Amino acid sequence: MPETEIKTETVQSPDAPPTAPPSAAPTRAASMEKVVALCKRRGFVFPGSDIYGGLANTWDYGPLGVELKNNVKQLWWRTFVQRRRDMVGLDAGILMHPRVWEASGHVVNFNDPLVDCRTCKSRFRADHLIEEKLGRHVDGKSPEELTAILAEANLPCPNCGNRTLTDARQFNMMFRTTLGPVEETGTVTYLRPETAQAIFVQFKNIMATSRQKLPFGVAQIGKAFRNEITPGNFIFRLLEFEQMEIEYFVRPEEGAAAFDAWLASMRAWLALIGLREEHCRVREHDPEELSHYSSRTVDIEYRFPGPMGWKELYGLANRTDFDLARHQEYSGEDLTYFDQPTGQRFLPHVIEPTFGVDRTVLTLLLDAYDEEQTVDVNGKADTRVLLRLHPRVAPYKAAVLPLMRKPELTEVARDLFARLEDETGVLVDYDETGNIGKRYRRQDEVGTPFCFTVDYETLEDRAVTVRDRDTTEQHRLALDEVPAFLRGRLA
Ligand code: GAP
Repeated sequence: MPETEIKTETVQSPDAPPTAPPSAAPTRAASMEKVVALCKRRGFVFPGSDIYGGLANTWDYGPLGVELKNNVKQLWWRTFVQRRRDMVGLDAGILMHPRVWEASGHVVNFNDPLVDCRTCKSRFRADHLIEEKLGRHVDGKSPEELTAILAEANLPCPNCGNRTLTDARQFNMMFRTTLGPVEETGTVTYLRPETAQAIFVQFKNIMATSRQKLPFGVAQIGKAFRNEITPGNFIFRLLEFEQMEIEYFVRPEEGAAAFDAWLASMRAWLALIGLREEHCRVREHDPEELSHYSSRTVDIEYRFPGPMGWKELYGLANRTDFDLARHQEYSGEDLTYFDQPTGQRFLPHVIEPTFGVDRTVLTLLLDAYDEEQTVDVNGKADTRVLLRLHPRVAPYKAAVLPLMRKPELTEVARDLFARLEDETGVLVDYDETGNIGKRYRRQDEVGTPFCFTVDYETLEDRAVTVRDRDTTEQHRLALDEVPAFLRGRLA
């Protein structure tokens, strides 16, 4: 994989102001509101349970959203699992033995600090409230420390304006459920809050069957669930979301080098999916901000438009041998690795690159959204909305459009469509309804990089018009060369 040019703006202190104020950002056509509207209009993401009035903070991926999301997941799997000799995969269950979450520390530590308003009963995350209203990063501070900061600032409730916020207290974010038909006597367990733990729990089986030697990694893509106090910002913070996670096992002394190598691979991934480098940066966690399992963490942050600003997109953590040691202790199973060259037995250390699928989809849409001012055929001002998605992730890679719905044109167009399906294996759209200008606009809005138009000239010269989404430039291409052209653009 080529090394990338992604700028890494490392922010050392979480208390420091952002290195570039939001006002310094170049004007972006994208806003969260516009992208949410486009997603509903074009079938990327719908509000969950829509016909029942919706269920707050739940979203469903529609026909194009699921294609975009699958493209992300397939590209990730191909890049980090199938193309590497040192990686294998796992697909574990969402429900696990409740002791897993005691061993992992989630029962005790997986908390967010919340405050309530005594007047209007609204609930907020104390750390987010301080971050937003006072501009201070307070990750890792205790509820008592947060309470002191809130008391000193005497902040009003953001909902009703009364100064009646309670002290901060811890709230466990795991969703509980009961196994067995009778709730009272059933076993309480949790919907997994991260996919990572199953990899540690299956470490012994994977070691025994995959014949991997250190360093090696295990990857998993799957759902995770968190009872977030303040979900929101569309699909940024969800109650139910998908993660793509890697646990990379190394000799303890190799941890630091593996961390740097994974950071480089994560940056290369950002370039691969086409996120703009000026919208991505790396932020180092301060010691007090580190999770209970981590000796070093960096976040890859994305610059969201509007007041959201820089927020976490992905994470990279050095989990040391914390998880394997805990699972060894709680399960009683020997999880050590026998190193043949040295004859030593030890618990490997773990480097964890973690990627949120939904945040990837959201940032791709925000990054790709653009508007161009044009004039229509009557000379009236018009706006062309387009998604400049990288062809690797775009739901449709191309569209085949007969100029008119006439049998002599549709026959050639359908033949081309079938050939593209057979010879490229990628998703291509076929559309013969409405005027050609409207059809181009529709494809622009869903991010289709190329349109192939079959017109009356095609019947003479056996060529089609290729239209480029980003430039709207058009050129003629021989029918027989279309599959190779498309494969070439996707390579
Ligand atoms: N195993 C480590 C772990 O779970 P995390 O930073 O809590 O670390 C990893 O989560 C990634 O999962 C985040 O970087 C983000 O992309 C995604 N993520 C976390 N919480 C989320 C939520 N409530 N909604 C959507 N994505 C979320």
